[in-house]
Amino acid sequence: MPGSNLEGKVAFVTGASTGLGWQIALTLARAGARVAITARRSERLEALAGEIEGFDGRALPVTMDARDPDSIRAAVGVAETELGPIDVLVNNAGIAIQKLAQDFTDADYRDQMGTNLDGYWFCAQAVGKRMIQRGQGGKIINIASLLALRPIPQLVLYAMSKAAVTQMTRALALEWARHDIQVNAICPGYIETEMNRPHWRTEAGRNFMRKFPRRRVGMPEVLDGTILLLASAASDFITGAIIPVDDGQSLM
Ligand SMILES: NC(=O)c1ccc[n+]([C@@H]2O[C@H](COP(=O)([O-])OP(=O)(O)OC[C@H]3O[C@@H](n4cnc5c(N)ncnc54)[C@H](OP(=O)(O)O)[C@@H]3O)[C@@H](O)[C@H]2O)c1
Repeated sequence: MPGSNLEGKVAFVTGASTGLGWQIALTLARAGARVAITARRSERLEALAGEIEGFDGRALPVTMDARDPDSIRAAVGVAETELGPIDVLVNNAGIAIQKLAQDFTDADYRDQMGTNLDGYWFCAQAVGKRMIQRGQGGKIINIASLLALRPIPQLVLYAMSKAAVTQMTRALALEWARHDIQVNAICPGYIETEMNRPHWRTEAGRNFMRKFPRRRVGMPEVLDGTILLLASAASDFITGAIIPVDDGQSLM
């Protein structure tokens, strides 16, 4: 993609130990960025770093718990010390707890919102502060969800967390426009990862998939183009955008 070279840039990706985050980190590294890869499972991060080093990329595994603001601030500090100032943040670490609304426990609520909403907020704030101090702008990409736009049963807390992320995206884009920080969100449709893989193997999962406009789910690579767009100079005139990348699933 023209303008999507990320040589000399530093990216920080949350939830990089698997799924979309793993693929996003690979895509940014292949485009030339030095990438801080974060999650709780350090052995997975080491494996990803090995894959990136395999094509002479640069990756720094940093263990971080997205529910803990101190852990986030420490990870951001380590990344900047080791790799340099962060140019691109991808907020991606997330979980999806599936239950009937009346069955969620208090602990479920804290876990769901702590990971998907607090995690995004504290990362955006920690990185945004540093971008403002540095005075050279930056790019923040929030991975929201189709369910921010269109809820389905048994995922009310997840849908709430993702809807909040889209409004956080717009509010931060407005406030940080003067600092040349672009803040955008991607709302992916269903993409096969550890989060949902067993479901697509069930009869219920296959029936659900048949209702999608194109009767399929995606693989993590389907986000590559949008990630490169939003991480690079190619998106300098885009901010506060909520971009569905969902194969038409939000039209159902
Ligand atoms: N797959 C889809 O269909 C789909 C669709 C729309 C949106 N999304 C969103 O895309 C993002 C990635 O999802 P995915 O499908 O790739 O899921 P996944 O394969 O289950 O990966 C989730 C990632 O988040 C990390 N994570 C979870 N809790 C964490 C915590 N407390 N601290 C730090 N990291 C944590 C996990 O790492 P550790 O367990 O190692 O910490 C893992 O790397 C999520 O925000 C999800 O809501 C996914």
